[in-house]
Order: sequence, then C-alpha cells, then structure tokens
Amino acid sequence: MRLSLEDHAWWERGVIYQIYPRSFQDSDGDGIGDLRGIERRLDYIAALGVDAIWLSPIFPSPMADFGYDITDHCDVAPVFGDLAAFDRLLCAAHARGLKLLLDFVPNHSSDRHPWFIESRKSRASPKRDWYIWRDPAPDGGPPNNWTSDMGGSAWEFDAATGQYYLHAFLKEQPDLNWRNPDVRSAMIDVLRFWLDRGVDGFRIDVLWHMVKAEGLPDNPVNPHYRPDMGEKYKVLQHHSTNQPDVHEIAAEFRSLADSYGERLLVGEIFLPLDALMEYYGTPDAPGVHLPFNFQLLDASWDAASLAPTIAAYEAALPPGCWPNWVMGSHDAPRIADRLGADQARVAAMLLLTLRGTPTLYQGDELGIGRVAIPPDRVRDPQDLRQPGLGLGRDRARTPMAWDGSPHAGFSDFEPWLPLHEDWTVRNVANQAGDPNSMLSLYRTLLALRRASPALRIGEYAALPADSGTLCYQRRHGDERLLIALNLTGEPRRLILPDDSGAAELLVSTLPDATLGDALAPNEGLLLRLGGAR
Ligand code: NOJ
Repeated sequence: MRLSLEDHAWWERGVIYQIYPRSFQDSDGDGIGDLRGIERRLDYIAALGVDAIWLSPIFPSPMADFGYDITDHCDVAPVFGDLAAFDRLLCAAHARGLKLLLDFVPNHSSDRHPWFIESRKSRASPKRDWYIWRDPAPDGGPPNNWTSDMGGSAWEFDAATGQYYLHAFLKEQPDLNWRNPDVRSAMIDVLRFWLDRGVDGFRIDVLWHMVKAEGLPDNPVNPHYRPDMGEKYKVLQHHSTNQPDVHEIAAEFRSLADSYGERLLVGEIFLPLDALMEYYGTPDAPGVHLPFNFQLLDASWDAASLAPTIAAYEAALPPGCWPNWVMGSHDAPRIADRLGADQARVAAMLLLTLRGTPTLYQGDELGIGRVAIPPDRVRDPQDLRQPGLGLGRDRARTPMAWDGSPHAGFSDFEPWLPLHEDWTVRNVANQAGDPNSMLSLYRTLLALRRASPALRIGEYAALPADSGTLCYQRRHGDERLLIALNLTGEPRRLILPDDSGAAELLVSTLPDATLGDALAPNEGLLLRLGGAR
C-alpha cells in the first residue's frame, strides 16, 4: 500500500502538458514556434501548475507530417533550434521543477532518412530489411489490402527495385521492420542518446503499430465501413497492429528507462480496454508506465456513457498500475469544439479530478473552440489527402494566443496556421486578469490538485447521482472531496452522501456559485466533505 505522496513517482503525482512546438512560441520571426520560444514561456507553464511538458517531435524532418517523419533521431530540426537550444531548454525546465518528455517515433522514419535512402537503393542493400519490402501481388497491385491511416493503400511501389514498401501513415513515412535486431538496437541507441542528455521520458508514437503479423495476411474487411469515416477504416487493423511481440519490445524500452531512475514512458495506443491494459506489461516484464487512455476522447458526452466508461477503465487496471486521462491532443478536435464552451469547463474539472495522471493539451486551458481553417491555409496532410471528411487536424494546431498584440504575441510574422477567430479576447493576457476565465479555472483546479493528496493519489469511488450528472468521491486519509458534474443544460439535483458532514464549496465552474441542493445547468462542483469517515 503506497500511502504518502513520496511513495508515488513524480508522474503519478503530476500533470503533463503537451506542447506542439510549431505553435507554441516563435522566437525568430519565421511564423513557426521553436525551442527558444518555449524556453521564454516556461514561467507561464510553471505558473499554470503542471509538472511536466511533452514536446511533439522536434527532430530534423521534411515535415511531411510535421515532424512525425524523422530524418535524424538524434538532432534538432533547424526550424526549432539546435542541440544547444535543447540543452538550454531542458536545463531551464528542470530549474523550474518541470520534467521534459520527448516524442519517440519508432514505427516509421522519413523516406529521406539515410536508412531508407540506403534501403531503397537495391534489393541487396544491407539496410533493405530495415523496412518492410514485398513483391507485388500476382496482378501487380499491392501485396495485401492494408490501408494507410492517411487514406489509400498502405503500400507504395518503388519502380527502381520493383517492390512495394509499407507505410501505415504517409508514403513519406515508411514503416521500420522491428523484427530486424539491428533496427531494434539502433532505436534503443536513440533512446539512450536522449536519456543520457537528461530527458525525463518519452511519449511513444503509435506503439501498437510497431510489429506486424508474420506473413502480412490481409486484414478483415470492416463490415461497418462508410466512406465518410476515411479509408483507414475500410479494413480492421487486426494483422497490421497490436501483435503480441510488441510487448517484449515495450518491456525492453521499459527496462532501459528504469535503468536511468524515475523516467516515464507513455505509449500512444488506440485499442479497446482489455488490449490497452496489456501495454502495462506484467510484473515480470513491465511495459510502458502509462498506456495513453483516450476513453474521454471517444465516449459520448453524457453521464449515461461516461459513468460506465470511467468505471470500466478503473476496473480493468491491473493491480499496481497507474491510470491516466487524456482530453485533447494535436490530433483531436478541440475540447470546446466537441463539447461547447460551457461543457468545456465541466470537462476541465473532470480531467483534473479523476484518479490518474492527466495530460492537458496547449490552448485547451484558454477554451479555444472551433477554428475554421480557410481552404488555402490547410496544412495537415491527412486533410489534404482526404478533403471534406472533417478529418483535419490543423484546427487543434493553431498558434497559442498570448496577448492582443499583432499575431497574438506568438510571432512577429504571419503564423504558419491562422489564429482562432476570437484570439483578441481569448488569449493568455486577457484571461489571466479575469477570475472567471477558462485559464483561471484551470489554474485554480491545478493549484487545488497540487495541494490535495486526495486528488493526486487518493482513492476514487463513484457516488449515486441525479440523471445526467456524474458524482464521485476522492479520498486520502481524512481528506474527502466530492465532485459533481452536470453534463446537461438543465438544473439537476445535487445528491450528497449521508455522511458528508459540513460540505464546503471549493470550486464551481460557474461564477458566483453558492452551495445548495442543486447543480445549475452546465455546472461542475468540487466540494470538501467533513463528517465521519
Ligand atoms: C500519431 C501522431 O500523434 C500523429 O500526429 C501522427 O500523424 C501519427 N502518429 C504518425 O506518426
């Protein structure tokens, strides 16, 4: 039993803040964010009250997929800075008590990575087997029916050598062959390179994709496919993802990370709960510390769906494994776009009061909502390849708005993506001075979480609740907190447990709230309970 905060690792007690480096802060006037810009904003991040930052990829890249296509895993893209700028950022983050996580992208490289350039030279290349090459099918078409997440076939024909190579994402992102031991040791060296430099861990991109079924059999056709879903859903990814051998690789990553002390590995995995939990590994061969939990991104936003979603996740956690929750990312539509401005405040309270490590995504603390990207400014390759399906990720990647100055204090130059429409009011400077702003709500909740062992490491228990509402208790020792969230636009009853004693209102998501026996429409409440235990 781990009773005190000190018995918990920093990443169990803490909150992670995701930075999309292109869009956080520009320091050199090219309209694209960079490492020096992030360093300039570290005081903002520390004051927000988070514990760690995760940087989406910062490595050299042709930027076909904005950094998820890497040409050198052990350097920094000039557009973001250089290794010296990285070392300064890391040092400055640590000086403020912030941990720093990098994005590790093991499934694929850029097609311009020296490894792939060598691999495609000839069938006899010593690096041929570092990627997944196959002969055409008898009709000359792709070797199997696998589809790319970005649309179309997952295979690209290479006329020079007469074979196809596999790419789960863009054709500019060939998949590495993790069954080849040399690939494995080269990538382990990459992890070592950054761990030796002092990073506190990694978010591992599409961990579940890394190993494919032997023989690369066709995937089953998806009986529920509709064209508006995007071509990736044409088939079920049974053979192209989530193969048993991936766990042994995750365990190798883990034992390396653990050999450096308290370093964190977060795995990006989109799978049903039972399969997701396997990425924690076993007591003998632990996997990643936190397999990302995207349940809140997928569940429909009503209490009847969320209550069982939370319960099922809690129940499925293997003993001793730590939960985590994600609400937004550079890939998903903004929270306030999905749920509306009122429920985005309730969502903030949910994310920051559930049991487990929350990951916040930059800009969600301002409540950025729907951003309409004019067609001529669309940059996301997923959107450009499958236009009109609403798959665009640019809307989550628009620049941070710091103040009301030209380009919102993000840059002196026109940013690479437009700002959200209401940036002149929805910006950090404006919201910092407004006690009722979204930013103030996030700061309040984060400060409370930091000061509360019940929120950081306490037990979670669902409580009886009126329809359309969620109610739960967090408890640690004598500290008991109750969270009641009205997910509807109607008033609802607030049901307190019989033994709540004198309850004290700590936070409401609404201004000027008082504690009564009701939840106002769209209200979230955080109460301290007294009374018997
Ligand atoms: C997941 C990343 O979050 C996404 O942005 C990227 O396009 C794919 N992996 C491919 O690396």
